[in-house]
Amino acid sequence: MRVLSIVGARPQFVKLAPVVAAARREGVDHATIHTGQHYDPGMSEVFFDELGIGPPEWNLAVGSGSHGAQTGAMLDCLDDLLDRERPDWVLVYGDTNSTIAGALAAVKLHLRVAHLEAGLRSFNRAMPEEHNRVLTDHAADLLLAPTEVAAKHLANEGLAHRTTIVGDVMIDVLLATAAALDSGAAKGLETRPAEPFTLATIHRAENTDNTTRLAAVINALAAIETTVLLPLHPRLRDRCAAADIDLNVGNLRPIDPLSYAEMVDAARTAVAVATDSGGLQKEAFVLGRPVTTLRSETEWTETLADGWNVLEPDLKNLSSIVLRRSPREAPPAVYGHGHAADAVINALIAAN
Ligand code: UD1
Repeated sequence: MRVLSIVGARPQFVKLAPVVAAARREGVDHATIHTGQHYDPGMSEVFFDELGIGPPEWNLAVGSGSHGAQTGAMLDCLDDLLDRERPDWVLVYGDTNSTIAGALAAVKLHLRVAHLEAGLRSFNRAMPEEHNRVLTDHAADLLLAPTEVAAKHLANEGLAHRTTIVGDVMIDVLLATAAALDSGAAKGLETRPAEPFTLATIHRAENTDNTTRLAAVINALAAIETTVLLPLHPRLRDRCAAADIDLNVGNLRPIDPLSYAEMVDAARTAVAVATDSGGLQKEAFVLGRPVTTLRSETEWTETLADGWNVLEPDLKNLSSIVLRRSPREAPPAVYGHGHAADAVINALIAAN
């Protein structure tokens, strides 16, 4: 059985790592196509190196652009490549433009598509990711859902017959990396603040693309009453530079993007996390750090249990919400125990 994974953006490299490892364990022939959506070394290469994925077999180098131009450039390249390779499965991940381009290119060539992280929904049609998710789920032949909630969304859309619950591959990497940090096998944060700190990340269009909103988000983060470590996504860095918004204000400590192990180390040693990232919400939850999400909805609704994650789109009293007490109950293990990638490979073999 031959599987081709299509990835392009930072969170997809993290999800790819355990899948590559599980494919190796099972003797499945696997290769990777990187669309080139993310291209800065700190957003891409570092993950392939540190997570032991090895370099992708192909890099389409499409780079940045409008949604249409970026997705179109991927489709154009993928058409030829997939037709030449004709794998048994094309595996696409999550909700980015690389996901929808991969799914669309494959189904048009009558290649079978599996969607990893199927069934996630924000029900917010203003998000580009929501369209990428819904369209990919409806195009794909096999829907690999991380949770019961995701499977229920798919059932509501008439897709139960194509759905398998496999657990969440991000937890595979998270638990392995936390263990590697404990044993010294992985390198954590180079310089950790000596004082208690909040870890913050911002990159979503809804927080970065409107200057008034962006300024309000930065002001609210800068007023959190601890040091605020802010690894800068290129989108945030560029939008702030374009709008003349100073990031060296208040308690903010802007830093370059972190490697995966550094990010896990930062999340688990922070007193709190404030973010608009889906992945980091979940990582904070699993690591038992209170997380505040600067959005009006979350796809990962399980993280809201017992107040581990709180949605705070309007930024009022952000500091006291972010620095609230931890819930007493430990977060429930709703995302699995770190063996999801094996379930993914087994599901592909079973449906082959
Ligand atoms: C994309 C995904 C989003 C995911 C995020 C993770 C879509 C629609 N969005 O958003 O779901 O959560 O990745 O990071 O696919 N840039 C660089 N260097 C890079 C990558 C990006 O400078 O390596 C800059 C470019 O100026 C680019 C901007 O960041 O225009 C946005 O990049 P893009 O990949 O289009 O979207 P993300 O905001 O990263």
